[in-house]
Amino acid sequence: MRTVYVNGEYVPENEAKISVFDRGFLMADGVYEVTSVLEGKLVDFDGHAKRLERSLKELDMAAPVTTDELLAIHRELIARNDLTEGGIYLQITRGAPADRDFAFPDPAETPSSLVLFTQQKNLANAPAANTGIKVISIEDIRWGRRDIKTVQLLYPSMGKMMAKKAGADDAWMVEDGQVTEGTSNNAYIVKGGKIITRQLSNDILHGITRAAVLRLAKEAQMEVEERGFTIEEAQDADEAFVTSATTFVQPVVQIDDATIGTGTPGPIAKRLREIYIDESLKKAI
Ligand code: PDD
Repeated sequence: MRTVYVNGEYVPENEAKISVFDRGFLMADGVYEVTSVLEGKLVDFDGHAKRLERSLKELDMAAPVTTDELLAIHRELIARNDLTEGGIYLQITRGAPADRDFAFPDPAETPSSLVLFTQQKNLANAPAANTGIKVISIEDIRWGRRDIKTVQLLYPSMGKMMAKKAGADDAWMVEDGQVTEGTSNNAYIVKGGKIITRQLSNDILHGITRAAVLRLAKEAQMEVEERGFTIEEAQDADEAFVTSATTFVQPVVQIDDATIGTGTPGPIAKRLREIYIDESLKKAI
């Protein structure tokens, strides 16, 4: 059984408690982060901590602990759960006021809630890295602040189910004719050696893996273009892939009815995955 962290305490997962009035539960009034763990160490903790700080600021939500304390909690959970590979899920909500109310509670009276737990997962040797995944395209009907990592994940969950129903693995969301991102990852195509991914804005999450992968691609003299692309352009690309803390670089081999390239993971996605894992192992803390 896992040991999880809830508001200052480490408890067995079946003893962890959150109030029914918690605004995360009632209103999805919360933000989260998922930081990957390799060889028992955290990958890009700083990147995740900075994005968390930004998400909190954008929602006028107080941080319940400092970044140093957060790091200590992450490490304590890794130790207590003997986690070598997987991730740490962290969630901060606007806490549990005395009653349900649309207005935000006074932070002096209602402290934010903080929950963290470990998830064991095969990341570096995930089978999908060798086979690639199939995605379907769906309309992006999420709200307009996707740059904030909120726990409003109903539509992405529905997208994942639409994909499963269609015999695929995931969905790419499309707005105004262009791909925004995957249900829980950033989307890329490769054409003529060039890596193309949508530019940063409020329309997509600013992926921590995305930032690292683009930096590493440039360092390896690969060409990168940050712009939107259509499903048709993606279907005609040489390669496609997604990135996230839970998938690293994962090849996409089919989009709707079209096979991408040869229908197997392409060389650029493979190379980027290798470089990313190498560097993550070196820099993990
Ligand atoms: N999802 N876009 C969306 C909508 C996401 O939910 C995520 C991450 C990403 C990639 O961000 P990063 O590289 O920082 O993980 C992009 C996490 C892994 C999740 O919801 O489980």
